[in-house]
Amino acid sequence: MTRCLALCLLATLPLLAQPAKFDAAAVERGRTQFKSSCGFCHGDDATGNRAPDLLRATSLSHDTDGDTLGPIIRNGRPDQGMPAFNTLSAAQLADMVLFLHKQAYDALHSASVPRDYPLKKLLTGNAAAGKAYFEGAGGCAACHSVTKDLAGIASKYTPLDLQQRMLYPAGPGRRTATVTLPGGKVMEGRLVHADEYEVAITAADGWYRSWPAATVKVEIHDPLAAHKAQMPKYTDADVHNLFAYLVTLK
Ligand code: HEC
Ligand code: HEC
Repeated sequence: MTRCLALCLLATLPLLAQPAKFDAAAVERGRTQFKSSCGFCHGDDATGNRAPDLLRATSLSHDTDGDTLGPIIRNGRPDQGMPAFNTLSAAQLADMVLFLHKQAYDALHSASVPRDYPLKKLLTGNAAAGKAYFEGAGGCAACHSVTKDLAGIASKYTPLDLQQRMLYPAGPGRRTATVTLPGGKVMEGRLVHADEYEVAITAADGWYRSWPAATVKVEIHDPLAAHKAQMPKYTDADVHNLFAYLVTLK
């Protein structure tokens, strides 16, 4: 709290003297574009849904006019479930980036946006519907049991951790990759890192190796692939209902 007060004051003082200006028409275009391309995963207001909250993402706070966000949006992070949007025009991208900055600005400057907003949103579901989805259409019961591996899961983690674990079971350590080098040589190993710039593995001989992502062909093998494959299939209601159910597993 004190930390927020100090930060908010620091952030507000210069802005009071010089309020941020956002071109309202561009923000509205960005909002519409964001809603149709990104809202399904990040939430229409960008506060997160089945994909992370963007308003608190460091990639947004470090961004100036799309220099950080642009490459992430254009290239995606396919191995993490973030698709590439490489057909957006420069204008569409700029509008969306502006919309995100405006949302973050509003969140920081409006006392009415609670710090734990994603949690509040998540807990609006219906536990009984979540249970039915878990056992039925969601297919969760094929791999999980609420009396075995998921028993007491809500006591193990805070709701936000639980959300994180369900949507992104921490898998980097489990993933392996097959990397084909420009000369055709194939390397395999445990995946250390993969993003739009760099790919790194620890090869079978124990050595760490990395390459610029653009120079190699990479195939990632993920033991969690089947779990993650569920993600795009959830509707908003499913996600909220599932959490309402999972938090009852104390
Ligand atoms: C199919 C779901 C999906 C869609 C659609 C999607 N994203 Fe993402 N996005 C993700 C996931 C999952 C991540 C987390 C990736 C990771 O962990 O690195 C992510 C990460 C991001 C990040 C990085 C956040 C950070 O941690 O710094 C940005 C920025 C982003 N998305 C913007 C967008 C924008 C803008 C759109 C629409 C043009 C969009 N995303 C559409 C799933 C999606
Ligand atoms: C094909 C198998 C599969 C399906 C289907 C599946 N999962 Fe998973 N899930 C996994 C695996 C594997 C893990 C990683 C377990 C671990 O970390 O030990 C996991 C992790 C989790 C975790 C985190 C557990 C922890 O202790 O960190 C939760 C919560 C979860 N899944 C919920 C679900 C829900 C809800 C569904 C249905 C919508 C679902 N899973 C569908 C295989 C699956």
